Formats: sequence, C-alpha cells, structure tokens
Amino acid sequence: MDYRIDQMPPYLLGTISEAVNNVRKQGHDVIDFSQANCDLPPPAIAVDKLIQACLHPANHRYSSSQGINKLRNAITLRYKKRFSVELDPDSEVCVTLGAKEGLAHTLLALTKCGDQVVIPSPCYPVHSGAIAIAECHQISIPMNLDQASFDEHQLFNDIVNVYCNTWPKPKVLLFSFPHNPTTAVVSLNFWKDIVSFAQAEKLIVLNDFAYGELCYSEFKAPSILEVPSAKEVAVEFYSISKAFALGGWRVGFALGGSGLIAKLKKIKGYIDFGIFQPLQIAAVSVIEKSDEILEETLNVYQSRRDSLAAGLISAGFQLTIPQASVFLWAKLPDGISSDDSEVFCRYLLQAKHIALCPGSGFDLRARSYVRLALMESESRVRTAVKSITSFIGECK
Ligand SMILES: Cc1ncc(COP(=O)(O)O)c(C=O)c1O
Repeated sequence: MDYRIDQMPPYLLGTISEAVNNVRKQGHDVIDFSQANCDLPPPAIAVDKLIQACLHPANHRYSSSQGINKLRNAITLRYKKRFSVELDPDSEVCVTLGAKEGLAHTLLALTKCGDQVVIPSPCYPVHSGAIAIAECHQISIPMNLDQASFDEHQLFNDIVNVYCNTWPKPKVLLFSFPHNPTTAVVSLNFWKDIVSFAQAEKLIVLNDFAYGELCYSEFKAPSILEVPSAKEVAVEFYSISKAFALGGWRVGFALGGSGLIAKLKKIKGYIDFGIFQPLQIAAVSVIEKSDEILEETLNVYQSRRDSLAAGLISAGFQLTIPQASVFLWAKLPDGISSDDSEVFCRYLLQAKHIALCPGSGFDLRARSYVRLALMESESRVRTAVKSITSFIGECK
C-alpha cells in the first residue's frame, strides 16, 4: 500500500535525537548542540500565570483554534512596539501551535497539489517536509554556504531568474530569516524587493521568523511586515519557543493579510481546538514582558556564542559570528581525514559524547559544515571545546 508519509525521508533531527538517546542509554552524559531545544528555565511569570490559570475549571475546556482575543491583542502590541507594524488582532492574526504547525497548515491551506514552492537552500528540513506534505514541488535556490559571503542581492536575483525560467510559475516563496541553519540575515531592502516582486507576480511570501527576536548587539532583524502593503502577499510566523525558552508550550503566531490568515483559520478550524487555554493566558504575560525577558536571554546566548565560537575557531573551524539566531554554522577544519560532516558528527558523538548537526541534513552541498545550537551552559561549552579540539587532533 502507498502511504503519503513514506515519500518523505526520515526526519533529520529525530534521527539525531535517537542517536543521542542511545549514547545516553549507555550511561554517557551527552553535551548536546544538535537541537535548538532551549535549556534555560522558563520565565517565572510564565509559570506563575500558568498555575493560576489552571485553577479555573473553565480554562480546561476546548479553546478557540485561532487563539484567545487577549493573546492576539498581545502579539499585535508587540509588533507595534518592536516593528512599528499595525495588525488587526481579529482578522490579521492566528495563534498557532508554534511556527512549525502554523507554517505547515498555511502551506496546506494556500496551495494545491503540484504547486511550486521556491525556497533558499540549505533549509530547515521541516520546511521541505511541509512542502512535501502539501504535495507541492520544492524549487531550491542555492545560497552561499559561507555566511560571510552571503549576498541578499544575489539571492533576490537568483529567485527572479529561477522564477522567470520555471513553468508552471511558482506560487509561494518560503523564507526563514534570520536563517536556520546558516544564521544569515537580510535587510529591510531585501523584503521590499521581495514584496514588490510578489505583488507584481501574484506570489505568496511566507517568512518563518522563529529567531526574529534573537538578535545581538545593535542588529535588529526586520519583519517582512514592516514593508508597507506586505500584508497583501505575506504571512510571517512568530514563536515564543526560542526567545522565551517555552518550546514545550507550542505557542506561535501567523501574522499577515486577512485574506491569507482567514484561509489558515479555516483549515485549523477543521484540525484543532487551539492550545490549552492556561498556556495561552500565561503566554500573554510573557509577551507583555518581552523586553525584560529578552535582555537576560540574549546575554546568555551571546556569551555562549562568543565562548563556543572562539573555541571552534582555535580548533580550526571556519565561521562567522552570527548577528542573530541561536546557532553557529561552521566549516570543518582543513586537513581532517573526512570532510563529510555526517561521518564527523557520528564519530564525535561516539568518541566524545558531543552532538552536533551535520550540514548535509540541510543541503547535500553543506557536507563540510556543522550546525551547533547554543543550548549548553558555558562550563559545558568549555568542556566540549576541549574534547572537540582533541578529537580534531585525532582526526588528522
Ligand atoms: C526555522 C525554525 N522554525 C521553526 C522552528 C520551530 O519553532 P516552534 O517551536 O515555534 O514550532 C524551529 C526550531 O528549531 C526553527 O529552527
């Protein structure tokens, strides 16, 4: 029998988690940089509000699949404050079960079987999965793998070229800036070009903004919705998972034009009853306190980023310090016995009990790259750097 799911490759991060668990079952302590699964404690206000909200029996009933009013209001106030973007909480916002579910159902709602979706590559494997589940065709646009050489103008020109030379014409452009895995970022000018192009060609633009709040120093990642009239063509996905260390809560948002958001709401109306209401109520307080919570969180990630980057660079890896996201994207040192990061990661896990994500899981061209999520404390980062450095010595 044919099953839709059998057409998809095993989920990369699931495979890595399994390998990590196997090493843990053997009794080893694994230092795990393989997934952006935040290790920081949840904000105290989040837990307090959650407990209070759980005490009300009415909060245990079905909620609303588009999210409660107060939560949709809270995110519109956040977008106004952070990005100067005005959104109507009733028609231009839908609460989602994280950015992941929101994006998958939006694609399903906005496409038909066989539609073409353009996506820069490497990409988050979940995005390829969402395209496959919607039975669309993925058109990958190769990005420069070296973050320092990433050029948004070149990416825009490549997208236009591919669009002009493809038939049937693509329907959706799918982005994730700040980018997973390469950590590349784009400017508001890039979004302006994309929005004008999408308007002219009647394309839909989706941006997974899961790392939008996680920017270092003076850098501020622009929301695509900052472009006037972007709402006509764009939906952006915001998440509280990474920024507020609440990945398990599954709270995210789809934000964009009412016509597009209405289609997501319609499909969600058939599929879910919304997030457990106490989580939605508590998420309101978290979003209201975004700036205070983020200040602390960003200090932690920045300091981990700097220690890990310094350690990797002195071990021979090539990398650029990212301006945003919770990752390092690094090229394996020259002169080691294999430049296949899948092999490298497998042996590193077995020999030193350190887990990284191989670049080939995001794009086969990235086989000499690894992605590291900043999800371990600084003392464990120091231990890991020592082990990785000695492993590199053994690989030469
Ligand atoms: C680009 C990107 N989008 C979405 C997610 C998942 O976000 P959420 O927890 O909001 O579903 C991740 C998690 O790693 C991610 O890297």
